[in-house]
Amino acid sequence: MIEVAVIPAAGKGTRLRPATRVVPKALVPVVDRPAIQYGVEEAARAGATEVIVIVDPGVGELVVRHFTEEGPLPGLEHVEVIPVVQEEARGLGDAVLTAREAVDGRPFLCLLADNIPRPGGDVLDRMAAAFDGLSLVCLRTLTDEFLSRYGVIVPGGEPDGPVVPVAGAVEKPGVEAAPSRLGLIGRYLFTPEVFDVLEDLPPGVGGEVQLTDAIDLLGRSGRCAGYVADTDLLDIGNPLGLVEATTVLAAADPRFGERYRAFLAEEWCP
Ligand code: UTP
Repeated sequence: MIEVAVIPAAGKGTRLRPATRVVPKALVPVVDRPAIQYGVEEAARAGATEVIVIVDPGVGELVVRHFTEEGPLPGLEHVEVIPVVQEEARGLGDAVLTAREAVDGRPFLCLLADNIPRPGGDVLDRMAAAFDGLSLVCLRTLTDEFLSRYGVIVPGGEPDGPVVPVAGAVEKPGVEAAPSRLGLIGRYLFTPEVFDVLEDLPPGVGGEVQLTDAIDLLGRSGRCAGYVADTDLLDIGNPLGLVEATTVLAAADPRFGERYRAFLAEEWCP
C-alpha cells in the first residue's frame, strides 16, 4: 500500500484568469467543492492517508483550513493534508522536489489536481496495485494537437497488458519530433529515486524544471514503466475545460444529475 501522495498545486493558473487573480486554482470550485478536494479524494481512494499539497506562499493555510475548519470532510476522516510551500513557480519538477523531506524516503503517488477523473474513471488506484518497485507514469494515446502540449514517452518495448516499458521522455515534442503518441497525463507513482534525479536537473522547456526530464532520465536507466489508461481526465485548467468538467460531473451527480440532464436537454437540445 502506498500511503503518501503529493499534489503539486503551486502553478500560476494564468489560463484561468481572472478567476485565479486572488483565489488559487486549487480552490476554484467544480460543482460543489474546490478542485483540490477531488485530488485528495482520488488519492484517498488509491489508499493514501497522507496527502502533501504543494502550494505557493500564502495559500497553504487556506488549503488546510478547507480540510479541517468544520471538522473532517465525509470520506476523508483518515486523511491528513499537509501543505508544503514552493517559494517560486519554477516548474512542476521543482514543485515535486519540494516534497522530498515530507515524503521521507517512501514511494509516493503524485497527481495534478487540475485533471479530474471522470466518475468511475480512476486509474491511480490501479497504478498503486500494479506497483512493483519501478516508478510508474500514467499514459494516454494523444491526438496530434496534444503532442505539443504534453510530455511524450519513448516506448522501451512491447506492452504487457496496460504496462509498457519506458526508455525516455520528451516534453512537448510536437507532431514531427514525437517519439510516440503516448503522453503523460498527470498521474504518477514515483520511487524516491526521482528526487535524486530532480535535484540535479537544469531548467528545461520554458525555463522550468520539467518533471518529464526526470522521467526521461529514469527511463534511460531502466527505472520507469508506463501504465496506459483507458479513459481520459477532465482538465479544469482552462475556462472551456472547467465548464466541460463541471457539466460531466454535475450530470453524473446522484443528488441532481437527472434534473441537470433534463435541464440541458430542454435548454439546448429541444
Ligand atoms: P500547469 O502549467 O498546467 O499549471 O502545471 P499552471 O502553471 O498553474 O497553469 P497556467 O499554465 O499558468 O494556466 C501543471 C501542474 O503543476 C503545478 C500546477 O499547479 C499544476 O497543477 N505546478 C506547476 C506547480 O505546482 N509549480 C510550478 O512551478 C508549476
